Amino acid sequence: MGEIVRLQKYIAMCGVASRRNAETMIENGRVKVNGVLIKELGTKIEIGADEVLVDNKPIKLASKKYYIMLNKPVGYVSTVSDQFDRPTVVDLLKDEVKTRIFPVGRLDYDTEGLLLLTNDGDFAYRVTHPKFKTDKTYIAKINGGITIKGLAMLRRGVKIEDYTTSPAEVEMLDAQGGLTTIKITIHEGRNRQVRKMFEAVGCRVAQLQRISIGKVELGNLPLGRWRHLTSHEVNYLMNS
Ligand code: URA
Repeated sequence: MGEIVRLQKYIAMCGVASRRNAETMIENGRVKVNGVLIKELGTKIEIGADEVLVDNKPIKLASKKYYIMLNKPVGYVSTVSDQFDRPTVVDLLKDEVKTRIFPVGRLDYDTEGLLLLTNDGDFAYRVTHPKFKTDKTYIAKINGGITIKGLAMLRRGVKIEDYTTSPAEVEMLDAQGGLTTIKITIHEGRNRQVRKMFEAVGCRVAQLQRISIGKVELGNLPLGRWRHLTSHEVNYLMNS
């Protein structure tokens, strides 16, 4: 008898999506087991015995794991495919990486910088789930200036919609040409969080770049290019 696992875990083990996104796929009616549509998250399958289809295509366990860092340019969506046919981050790798990989978390269409891609759902879970508090550092260029009070508010946590952000590390780096450059480190990953945090203190982000995730840095990787993570980087992110 093969190992029995939850359906969402199996989908993640096959490198199709992170466990959380796999749950959404199930709820959205994209997954069948042995020909039967499954929408319940508690469903378990037997590896090797049950046939799982995503979007009517059979999936199988990913044999080799991929861990990739991309320097995402502005103008790409952080998904595998886009309903509006915009270019996706996967398009930037598909000529060279033939395995199915997906982005670990998300950078906005108008944000550039460090984006990880993988076919390892557990790795994606480890890096993105808020309970692990993995730091993400951004360089934000804001229009105009920011007050001392604004910086203090960002450091303490600001109210965005229905929640208050955790304390952030914030450092003003530069101010010239009508733009102020600020380095900000957060460990949460709400939708457009950095932009909304600045909005909450009356500032508008003109440019946003992610430069590191934990101690893994973008370095001098050119815009639009990618590289494999080192085993040291993978182990560090898995265990940090
Ligand atoms: N915060 C944002 O506002 N945008 C991103 O892309 C990432 C973090």
